[in-house]
Amino acid sequence: MKNLKGVSTALFVAILSSFIILMLNTAAFSADTCVNCHKDDKFRVQNKQLFDYYKNWEGSDHDVAGISCQDCHGGDPTKEKKEQAHAEHLSPYDESSMVSYKNIPKTCGKCHEKVYNNFIESKHFKALGRDVNGPVCITCHGNPLTNVYYTSIVLSTCTGCHNLQTNNHPEIVGSAENILHRLNVCRGLLKWSSRHLEASKLEGVNQLYQDISNSWHQFNFTNAEKESKELLDQLRALFREAHKWEKKTK
Ligand code: HEC
Ligand code: HEC
Ligand code: HEC
Ligand code: HEC
Ligand code: HEC
Repeated sequence: MKNLKGVSTALFVAILSSFIILMLNTAAFSADTCVNCHKDDKFRVQNKQLFDYYKNWEGSDHDVAGISCQDCHGGDPTKEKKEQAHAEHLSPYDESSMVSYKNIPKTCGKCHEKVYNNFIESKHFKALGRDVNGPVCITCHGNPLTNVYYTSIVLSTCTGCHNLQTNNHPEIVGSAENILHRLNVCRGLLKWSSRHLEASKLEGVNQLYQDISNSWHQFNFTNAEKESKELLDQLRALFREAHKWEKKTK
């Protein structure tokens, strides 16, 4: 009898806790109706493109940081019905949409203020919507992915305007390739360094990485070239120094 009582208490606790978990989950879901509806597996078949946009966001830096659909698209994420949730939502083909090509920098800039302030210095931004549809944030970062696209994808968009026929700075494409290549190597070395060296040793290189990002988003490639070479040299020196030190202590 005593045993049975123990079992039923355990059972009761188990049922109660799964009920609470269920309640919490439901609350979390209904807090963002955009995600709740868009993640529906039925779209995989019904509307593949729509589903892919959801899939690109899922697990991205933005998802992890709690940035959701309405932060870039608008709309009301508390409404269950599509028509009400979409009420203020506009297609990217609508000029006033938050994600129309021309408005993308401003929308991203709400949160990425520093990058935005650099970008508006560029010749690309100044010509945006006037005569040039040069690159905007998603040309290189994808949407809503946050990694820089493969170098080859980025470069193929640049080549459209910067080539020998247009004679608009055709050398820029090679320069962009070199900088992106150095940044790739630097990112690997930075990752290694942050695991093996104390933070105080990395202040200089972290600052330099930020400087490159600033120059890059201004499309000031003269500076970005110089800074990316400098960063690579500094990181290689740190790497060599750390190895020497490791050998000595062995
Ligand atoms: C109940 C389901 C449902 C909810 C809730 C919902 N959507 Fe949608 N959404 C859809 C469907 C279905 C489509 C495909 C086009 C259509 O049927 O209107 C769509 C299309 C879209 C598109 C592309 C539209 C276009 O015109 O190109 C965007 C962007 C979008 N939704 C964002 C959002 C955002 C942001 C929210 C929350 C504020 C949201 N959705 C809430 C079902 C939903
Ligand atoms: C970081 C900003 C950002 C977030 C977060 C974001 N989007 Fe988008 N989305 C954009 C931008 C910019 C575009 C327009 C450019 C493009 O089509 O790639 C877009 C385009 C779309 C489109 C294509 C519309 C069309 O008609 O071509 C759909 C569908 C969409 N987003 C759905 C979603 C859904 C669903 C979520 C949340 C799960 C979401 N987006 C989260 C920025 C974002
Ligand atoms: C509502 C705020 C918000 C908006 C709008 C937004 N982001 Fe973000 N973004 C964040 C946060 C928060 C993070 C994660 C923390 C961080 O790295 O800054 C992030 C991360 C990123 C990263 C990775 C940063 C890194 O250090 O690796 C990139 C790239 C990025 N966002 C690009 C964009 C682009 C492009 C858009 C527009 C299409 C956009 N973001 C719109 C808030 C936002
Ligand atoms: C021509 C390609 C290109 C364009 C256009 C571009 N970026 Fe970047 N972005 C890069 C590269 C390259 C890096 C540096 C490598 C990295 O951090 O992944 C970077 C880094 C970033 C970072 C992380 C570093 C930092 O300084 O915070 C954010 C956030 C970001 N970009 C947001 C944006 C936003 C917002 C826009 C539009 C206003 C934009 N980018 C336009 C290529 C681009
Ligand atoms: C739709 C056309 C177009 C595309 C695509 C384009 N650009 Fe440009 N770019 C221009 C124009 C126009 C200028 C201004 C030229 C001038 O006034 O000297 C420019 C200027 C620049 C400059 C500054 C040159 C200087 O000396 O000030 C750089 C750097 C640059 N682009 C890099 C890129 C990169 C990298 C890409 C690809 C991610 C790219 N561009 C894609 C049209 C484009």
